[in-house]
Parts: sequence; C-alpha cells; structure tokens
Amino acid sequence: MKISVSILNLKEKNRIKEIELHRPDYIHIDVMDGIFVDNISCLYNDIKNYLNDYNYDVHLMVDDVKKYIDEFKLINPKYITFHVETNNVDDNINYLKKLGIKVGLAINPNTDIKLLLPYLDKIDLVLVMSVQAGYGGQEFIMDSIDRINTLYKYRIKNNLSYKISVDGGINDKTIKYVENADIVVSGSYVINNSDIDSALNVLRGV
Ligand code: DX5
Ligand code: ZN
Repeated sequence: MKISVSILNLKEKNRIKEIELHRPDYIHIDVMDGIFVDNISCLYNDIKNYLNDYNYDVHLMVDDVKKYIDEFKLINPKYITFHVETNNVDDNINYLKKLGIKVGLAINPNTDIKLLLPYLDKIDLVLVMSVQAGYGGQEFIMDSIDRINTLYKYRIKNNLSYKISVDGGINDKTIKYVENADIVVSGSYVINNSDIDSALNVLRGV
C-alpha cells in the first residue's frame, strides 16, 4: 500500500519539506480553482516555491484542466489527476501522455462509475473520491468501498493496469476498508499526527 500525503490548505504548504523528510511515497497536491469546487487551494503561484524534487501526485479539482496541466507540468509530477466530470477528457488524457506524465482520472462520490469505462484502458490511475471534492477533514463515505472493489475486479477481468487510489477520510479506522486500493491519499490523519512516521506505518499496515 503506497501513501500519498495530501497538502490542501496553504498553511500546510510550509510543512511540505518537513513531511517529505518522512518519505511518504507521494505528496498529493490538492489544486482547487473555486469553480469546479467552491474552494481555492494550492494555486501554482502560491505553492511552487514550496516544492522541491519529490514524487508529486497532483490532484486537479479544476474546470480548465489544460491551463492547470500547463502550470503543474513544470514541477515534473509523477501523476496529474483531473476529474472525469470535466470537458475534453480524451484530449487531456492525450495531452498528458504527450507530456510523458502519468494520467489519473478522479471520480466524485455521486458520479456514476460507468462514466470511467471509456477511459480505463488509457489511464494510469483512478482516484476514487471517498469524500466530496473540495475540503479536507471530512468523514469517509462508506459507499466508496464497493466502488474500489468494482474497479479492482474490473481491472483483473479486463487485464488492465490502472492503479486504484482512494482519497478522503483515510485514517487508522478506515484504512481496513480499502485494502484493494494500491495508493491511499491521507491529509488530516497524517498531518495532524504528532508522530508522522507512526501514522504512515499504520496506513502501510506495518
Ligand atoms: C479533498 C481532497 C483530499 C483531502 C484529503 O477535496 O481531494 O485530498 O484533502 O484530506 P483528508 O485525508 O483530511 O480527508
Ligand atoms: Zn485530493
């Protein structure tokens, strides 16, 4: 199980360097434009000076996906994930491939998972939102478990290779529900923990 520690609000940006010292597998950067979600976070000019050379997992909760791809490609991210609920999904998948950046598609809790079907053989990661996109510190939505397991079975049945990542409300209590995920994104549970190493180990199951 790989861990991606989410940085959402700008007060956390000062802690990115500190968190990277604990070697999470990824740092998850939650980018919000105030249009796709009614919150603004981690805009490129606000966050760029706090980033180093790390495994960045950029989560775009934005309307104008291409604009933000063109900004965040500059930090040489491992993944850029955008939402399947946006327009021009195919074009943006192809654009990321051309840039050589791994492609993630995120899906909100109340979006029918069938919306992903046309893309699953083209992408590197599915980000199953287990909270409503827009804010950290929300409760894990239990329906997410079925969605993860459906994607897990579909991947085997169709011999596909996308990674399954789950994002939101992941902590010591909910980690047991998401064992079929490859990556878990966790914000408040890790960041607010006085012992970051032990929080990471709990999520890793060690
Ligand atoms: C929500 C973000 C999540 C969130 C995770 O829109 O995409 O990454 O910040 O934070 P926690 O782990 O606190 O739910
Ligand atoms: Zn996120």
